[in-house]
Amino acid sequence: MEEEITIRIKNLTKSFNGNKVLDGLDIDIKKGETLGILGKSGSGKSVFLKHLIGLMKPDSGQIYIGAIDIAPLAEEEISVIRRMLFGMLFQSGALLDSLTVAENVALPLREGTNLAEDKIDKKVKEKLELVGLKDIEEQMPDSLSGGMRRRVGLARALVMEPEIILYDEPTSGLDPIIANSINQMILEVKKLTGATSIVVTHDLNCINIIADRVGLLYDGKILAIDEKEKFMKSENPYVQQFIHGRIEGPIKIR
Ligand SMILES: Nc1ncnc2c1ncn2[C@@H]1O[C@H](COP(=O)(O)OP(=O)(O)OP(=O)(O)O)[C@@H](O)[C@H]1O
Ligand SMILES: [Mg+2]
Repeated sequence: MEEEITIRIKNLTKSFNGNKVLDGLDIDIKKGETLGILGKSGSGKSVFLKHLIGLMKPDSGQIYIGAIDIAPLAEEEISVIRRMLFGMLFQSGALLDSLTVAENVALPLREGTNLAEDKIDKKVKEKLELVGLKDIEEQMPDSLSGGMRRRVGLARALVMEPEIILYDEPTSGLDPIIANSINQMILEVKKLTGATSIVVTHDLNCINIIADRVGLLYDGKILAIDEKEKFMKSENPYVQQFIHGRIEGPIKIR
């Protein structure tokens, strides 16, 4: 039986000021898998994720979410799909500093649903507990550690119970122990929700723990995408250079 494809990207191209960041990128993401995408800083990882949720428009190409190509859709239509299907943990958490923890987590519910306040409170509490946080609803994000902020960001990403979860550098800027606790949480969320997940990062340890399949984003394309074990053993010179952090090799250092 053919595996079900949740996201299919065809020939995705995006340039900024003549600089091609995504260059005819093709990729299929299977239902329920956790796909890791490695790429050096500035390789277009965040740009790629932003296209999936329609925060950026491609110059050309298709982005199928299920059967719908979201590339040509208007913002009003895309925003509905974004809200209903996607949860995103943004790079560095992206919490609103003027809102409490509970208000941050509740934001997608307040903007996207007509849920009553008591139901919202219940869901917020439930998601905070899921990420291992208790009794911090009334705190301000400023008063939290980096790891806790990341967890609050994850609770917010989960609050609409999304089918697809996007993680942009979930472990960046965290010490190895806290980073690992976030990795374990990503595994836990996968087990609990069965969501299709994409994790973009340059953290190999993170990929080793959480990914089912891995690809390398380089020069606007996905190279050597494969099951994690096969990917790590790949003889592709770009993969070899990246995973060993070699200075010499085909990957250009800017
Ligand atoms: N809104 C924008 N306008 C112009 N250029 C942009 C914009 N967003 C991204 N870029 C450029 O696209 C390229 C890829 O950026 P992106 O943020 O996707 O990289 P990244 O792989 O996420 O890097 P990092 O690991 O540092 O987060 C960079 O050269 C960046 O300057
Ligand atoms: Mg980025």
